[in-house]
Amino acid sequence: MRLGVNIDHIATLRQARMTNEPDPVYAAVIAELAGADGITVHLRQDRRHIQDRDIELLRTIIKTKLNMEMGISMEMVKIALKYKPDTCTLVPETAEEVTTTGGLDLTMYSEKVAEVSGNLRAAGIEVSAFIDPEIDQIKACHRLGISVIELNTGEYARNWNNSYAILELEKIKKAVVYARKLNIKILAGHGLTYQNVKPIVEIEEIEELNIGHSIIANSTFMGLDLAVRRMKKLIQA
Ligand code: PXP
Repeated sequence: MRLGVNIDHIATLRQARMTNEPDPVYAAVIAELAGADGITVHLRQDRRHIQDRDIELLRTIIKTKLNMEMGISMEMVKIALKYKPDTCTLVPETAEEVTTTGGLDLTMYSEKVAEVSGNLRAAGIEVSAFIDPEIDQIKACHRLGISVIELNTGEYARNWNNSYAILELEKIKKAVVYARKLNIKILAGHGLTYQNVKPIVEIEEIEELNIGHSIIANSTFMGLDLAVRRMKKLIQA
């Protein structure tokens, strides 16, 4: 299973002082050298962490794969077309949220998603949609011609140490089976930690995990290199 490392929170720390350190570009290099298979950044409309300059530099420096998470706005489409990340992951975005909460509702926003994903695909950018593990969302994905999904593991992660996690895991597994039948490539992420990642790793059809907060949090104590290596080891088993 591949590991995409989300480095947004390196930028969160930098923005706390509006200074130039720590630099997420350094973080991307260290993460790649430690074995990350891709780097993910979320350019939010309010620019609370990642800045346009980061995307520009990351595009030239990253040797693996740059995945830009973005809300479904034409402002973000323009930026993606300028810097051409390898993948754009469409996510819901509201100003009040602390982090992405819930998957993008592809049935409610189907027209906007069709417009945004059409523009990105026309420029040769792979489009992925961050969705909840619901069959209706996968059907909508298929209708919209989106061939990659990132399943939201947030609900599972929040409940991983109580019995509700079993139900959430079952939902994820059902969604995986359905998506595979439609030939959709499956990634997953949100809320995954060193403690809760194992049952998700055991779902073979999931090709890649995007993990940010837990890796960056642990890096403050053990360093980013070791934090990435430890996660990579867990998800490779
Ligand atoms: N995937 C998506 C779509 C996200 O928005 C995020 C958070 O930015 C992640 C994965 C990573 O989540 P976490 O930081 O909880 O590991």
